[in-house]
Amino acid sequence: MGEEFRLAIVGCGVIAKTHAEAIAKMKGARLVAVADISREKSESFAATQGATAYADYLEMLERPDLDGVVVCTPSGLHGEVANAAMQAGKHVITEKPMDISLSRCDEMIRISERTGKKLAVISQHRFDLASLFLHQAIEQGRLGRLVLGDAHVKWYRKQEYYDSAGWRGTWRLDGGGALINQSIHTIDLLQWMMGPVESIQACTATLTHRIEVEDAAVAALRFKNGALGVIEGTTSAYPGGKARLEVYGERGQVSISGDRLVNWQLADSSEQEVQALISDPERGSGGTQDPAAVWGNAHRAQLEDFVDAIRTGRRPLVDGHEGRKGLEIVLAVYEAARTGKEVRLPSR
Ligand SMILES: NC(=O)c1ccc[n+]([C@@H]2O[C@H](COP(=O)([O-])OP(=O)(O)OC[C@H]3O[C@@H](n4cnc5c(N)ncnc54)[C@H](O)[C@@H]3O)[C@@H](O)[C@H]2O)c1
Repeated sequence: MGEEFRLAIVGCGVIAKTHAEAIAKMKGARLVAVADISREKSESFAATQGATAYADYLEMLERPDLDGVVVCTPSGLHGEVANAAMQAGKHVITEKPMDISLSRCDEMIRISERTGKKLAVISQHRFDLASLFLHQAIEQGRLGRLVLGDAHVKWYRKQEYYDSAGWRGTWRLDGGGALINQSIHTIDLLQWMMGPVESIQACTATLTHRIEVEDAAVAALRFKNGALGVIEGTTSAYPGGKARLEVYGERGQVSISGDRLVNWQLADSSEQEVQALISDPERGSGGTQDPAAVWGNAHRAQLEDFVDAIRTGRRPLVDGHEGRKGLEIVLAVYEAARTGKEVRLPSR
């Protein structure tokens, strides 16, 4: 690795643009190559980025000048691409979910450890200032004993969204529906704040879309620390609202809506602190920032963490072990809904 960290993207669809924009704003990193099974897509994307296009990512991985690969393919292909990249000597950051099966995630972690190549999993909202702030407050014990932790993701996707690419809304490549694709962001934040889940009971349904997977789900959770929680996730709630994370403890309660703190009531906080937090445009609800810019910034923060982890030899904030956790919860919700039984974690 030279002064400049040289990145490639595999999968030139919707989210690839967010990564390319984030990389363009990073100091010391450059997007040099992109690959997509559709040659047309890789060529048109490469032309906008000043990068080299490939139709076969394996051919791209032969380039000795590549340091890292960003995996932006359909979810069920993340492990396959990540493993090939690490075996070719490249560090990897993959989009969420890490993959769609835990055995594939374990294989990715093993290959990362064997090759010594870093593996990171996108969960960009862990880098929102609101999330970092709440996580720190919990670590400092400011909420006291945790009591309830809730993830509410009442979003809306038209049928055209599912029809826009053959893999969307399929078990084989999306791995599920509203939970694994959309709600997983907030589910990951929930477990990051609340700690490991002990058991799950759940129901899922397909209500408004022509898809084989769920577009609505609810789950009741018991965390290992004794706290309880709920997950509600859907892509059927017109017109869709902001994802909401709520954490309640014996000494306070905090809510995050979208990427902003909207409620901050702690026994040890002053009125001044509350006002400062919720009127801070980066953390609070009063900001007028362009949501698209905030979205891109969170990806950028995570990509910067990935490159810094490689340069300094530390673990990325969301490494393979961390990235697997949200998926484990989602898959346990599916199993609980399918069997009608309480599912205990860890599941293997
Ligand atoms: N972090 C986020 O906020 C966020 C947002 C959207 C999507 N995502 C994730 O990003 C991933 C991609 O989603 P998307 O909406 O960009 O999908 P998309 O369908 O728009 O793009 C996927 C691209 O991968 C290409 N592809 C498929 N198989 C390939 C292969 N074998 N080799 C190379 N390219 C291949 C497709 O041709 C397509 O261009 C998904 O896992 C999704 O969950 C994350």
